Amino acid sequence: MAQIELTDVRKSFDSLEVIHGVNLSVPDGCFVVVVGPSGCGKSTLLRMVAGLEDVSAGAIAIGGRDVTALEPKDRNVAMVFQNYALYPHLTVARNIAFGLELRGTPKAEIKQRVERAASILHLDGLLERKPRQLSGGQRQRVAMGRAIVREPDVFLFDEPLSNLDAKLRVTMRLEIRRIHESLGATSLYVTHDQVEAMTMGDVLVVMNDGHVEQIGAPLDVYERPASTFVASFIGSPPMNFLTADIEDREVRFDAGRMTMHHAELPRGSAILGVRPEHLRIDPEATDFEMSVRMVEAHGAETIVHGISGRHDVTVRLAGSHRIRPQDILPLAAERGHLHLFDIERGRRIA
Ligand SMILES: Nc1ncnc2c1ncn2[C@@H]1O[C@H](COP(=O)(O)OP(=O)(O)O)[C@@H](O)[C@H]1O
Ligand SMILES: [Mg+2]
Repeated sequence: MAQIELTDVRKSFDSLEVIHGVNLSVPDGCFVVVVGPSGCGKSTLLRMVAGLEDVSAGAIAIGGRDVTALEPKDRNVAMVFQNYALYPHLTVARNIAFGLELRGTPKAEIKQRVERAASILHLDGLLERKPRQLSGGQRQRVAMGRAIVREPDVFLFDEPLSNLDAKLRVTMRLEIRRIHESLGATSLYVTHDQVEAMTMGDVLVVMNDGHVEQIGAPLDVYERPASTFVASFIGSPPMNFLTADIEDREVRFDAGRMTMHHAELPRGSAILGVRPEHLRIDPEATDFEMSVRMVEAHGAETIVHGISGRHDVTVRLAGSHRIRPQDILPLAAERGHLHLFDIERGRRIA
């Protein structure tokens, strides 16, 4: 059991800085998901916590102990990777036990730990199989078994589900959460998949280009994104953005206008953000109109893509609707769900 503390952690490769001072506190027993696009520095950050990569500046503490200069083996962390690389010639039991055997753990203890891990992972009946006799999800669980038998203070996951098909990913998300609940260990999980992040994390850390954009509970991040980057990265389809001019309580943009009732509205230019699910068709609406370009009928919901003035707009409607390209839809935006961002830096202003 241990909390993880990152203090102004930086990383440069040669002279190029790729992690620009990350501060992060992961409480004991918490499941924290770091999410961001490919190349933003997630793996590098995780590898620094594991000790597989030196930090260029800053400090890392685990369980109150400064581990910045410690070897990976002395940090008591276990990492689960995307490529789980099992030994094909060894049984599931030996694959799980491998690290313990290397360390000279007594045989009886290995047996006991492997059985306990197998039971948590629901691999009980499969211990004598070889990896090729397992499904993708079972192989991923064997990889987790290797981590579990080490009884680490901290689990680090680097996109462990990326190689699985879509359906299995959904099952394994729940499975990893279930395992987390039963072990109660602190977990740091990185992914580029915002759905995975939203559904698995107690806390989200949204990263962009080597820095942290926002830290918060998944729904708080969804409801109050700190920047246009977070607003467009979390939520699918992404938030609509309209360039607007604000005067008094009125927000004007090229294809319409609406009144906002936020306590403090800035004057001048801003970016108005509204999620596709917070727009609805309303014949009485005076907010704005949309010219339909494309309709995705999913059955349970309908995603409508179109143009309003010079902005692309997406609307998400519950149920099915007879909407066709070229239709003109009158749209109303839910007032409680409007976001304003500054034009220059895209930071939230209201
Ligand atoms: N060993 C390395 N040498 C040089 N650059 C690296 C190395 N590892 C990662 N980088 C660079 O650091 C940045 C972050 O990479 P990475 O942490 O792998 O991102 P992510 O896991 O979010 O996709 C990228 O620009 C990548 O090219
Ligand atoms: Mg990566």
